[in-house]
Amino acid sequence: METDFTIRGAKLEDAQNIFKLIHLNSDQLVPKSLGNILENADRFIVACIGEDIVGCATYQIHPEIGDEKAATVEIQSVAVGIEHRRKGIGKALIEAVIAKTMPIAPAEYIVLTFAPEFFGSLGFYEVPKTQVMHKLYTGCINCTKHTNPFTCPEIAMLLPAN
Ligand SMILES: CC(C)(COP(=O)(O)OP(=O)(O)OC[C@H]1O[C@@H](n2cnc3c(N)ncnc32)[C@H](O)[C@@H]1OP(=O)(O)O)[C@@H](O)C(=O)NCCC(=O)NCCS
Repeated sequence: METDFTIRGAKLEDAQNIFKLIHLNSDQLVPKSLGNILENADRFIVACIGEDIVGCATYQIHPEIGDEKAATVEIQSVAVGIEHRRKGIGKALIEAVIAKTMPIAPAEYIVLTFAPEFFGSLGFYEVPKTQVMHKLYTGCINCTKHTNPFTCPEIAMLLPAN
């Protein structure tokens, strides 16, 4: 079934709804505080149906030590409201994050995820977590779900940028 949704950059006033979407999916996503969302609001993309925020995604740049040309974009906080899934909204959010970050010419996109089929459908493929852990570590070290990032069951996936 076709659904009319729009994709746009987030406004500060969307922060509370983004917070709720991330919180509702806290089993799959690293929690983010309202303050963190507000401080980084310019990096969030949202999906809307009418006035409602039904999806969100954001990203973080991880510079590679000693080689800025090999910088990585980590896609984070991808969530679509449960009643709006499988309508292409998640895909459109990822495409929008990639379109927004492509001008800075990263080497690759990475994600840590429990949704490998979703990211696989977008061309991401699984890589050993050890291959990207030094980039993800700054996020993982702040996660309270697992005592050790290497024992976290999330799957690391990568998409070359070109
Ligand atoms: C993962 C998530 C963002 C997908 O959003 P979505 O809007 O349903 O995804 P799309 O409709 O764009 O799906 C695109 C394709 O991905 C694949 N896909 C999506 N969800 C899938 C699932 N649960 N199982 C298998 N394949 C799936 C399918 O190939 C799908 O295409 P199709 O519907 O034509 O078969 C959504 O399920 C979600 O919010 N999950 C909870 C949070 C989460 O796990 N986020 C990802 C971690 S960063």
